[in-house]
Amino acid sequence: NKPTIYITRKIPPYLIEPFSQYFQFQMWEDEHTPIPREILMREAKEADGLLCLLTEKIDRAFLDHASHLKIIANMAVGYDNIDVEAAKEKGIIVTNTPDVLTETTADLTFALLMATARRLVEANHFIYQDKWGEWSPFLLAGTDIHHKTIGIVGMGRIGEAVARRAKGFQMNLLYHNRTRKKTVEQELDVSYVSFEELLEKSDFVVSLLPLSEQTENIFDKRAFEQMKSSAIFINVSRGGVVDEKALYDALKNKVITAAGLDVFKDEPIPSSHPFTSLSNVVLLPHIGSASITTRENMLTLCLENIRAVFQHEAPISPV
Ligand code: GLV
Ligand code: GLV
Repeated sequence: NKPTIYITRKIPPYLIEPFSQYFQFQMWEDEHTPIPREILMREAKEADGLLCLLTEKIDRAFLDHASHLKIIANMAVGYDNIDVEAAKEKGIIVTNTPDVLTETTADLTFALLMATARRLVEANHFIYQDKWGEWSPFLLAGTDIHHKTIGIVGMGRIGEAVARRAKGFQMNLLYHNRTRKKTVEQELDVSYVSFEELLEKSDFVVSLLPLSEQTENIFDKRAFEQMKSSAIFINVSRGGVVDEKALYDALKNKVITAAGLDVFKDEPIPSSHPFTSLSNVVLLPHIGSASITTRENMLTLCLENIRAVFQHEAPISPV
């Protein structure tokens, strides 16, 4: 009898097919709506392994209920949606999807940084709204990127990939991280500074921090006040690292110049969200790793992790 794997969202058959010799798959047959909690609880009870997304809250109550699961493969590099401690206690292996999304997410980070600095979304709307009269000296004039200082908060794999891109733009590079990375400092000519110094000196403050008790709301009122008034804040990690009310106020009162946000505390945000009333933000619906190839690779890595565990091999990317 093949083990049963429950997949919490509809994914294309061609990705599952190579694994159908090992497993019996069940899935939530909806591509865009998360599985309701009660149904997930029921299905997980019957399954041997779970492939889930960051939309599923895998908390202690869930894990108490589904403690027989062998593996939970999270289709994300971040795993703040999972109580990893509780999973460990129950002997459930948790895996994530690092590496395969690094370059794609760094691309998006840079795209968002550039779009925010050069007001691309606003400029695009400008034409659609028939506002383009004549070329004029300061029409939609934004902020330079080249030769400016970028401060990367959270120097993991994606941070390094962003740093490499920033170097190509001849930026001056600062970073802050829990641990210093001397090799990265040498290779990429990036300087380690305290969080406070980074906030004070950066033209672009880029958050790549995982969400944890230590990082929750780390970008608060004080942090925005420490930034330059010309600063641009970019967040592509987790909304929870930002005090969103403080960010809203900082943008509204021009404490900082602009923000580019791919992530929010409570996703999805509606078009009535306070951020949408601001002209100095670029908002994206959590698409950091969203290239077709990378999303395919993330799903395949989840399935490879599951396969490894059931074949008594070490998981490829355990948390
Ligand atoms: C997406 O946000 C991820 O953590 O991969
Ligand atoms: C702008 O198009 C320029 O030529 O400076």
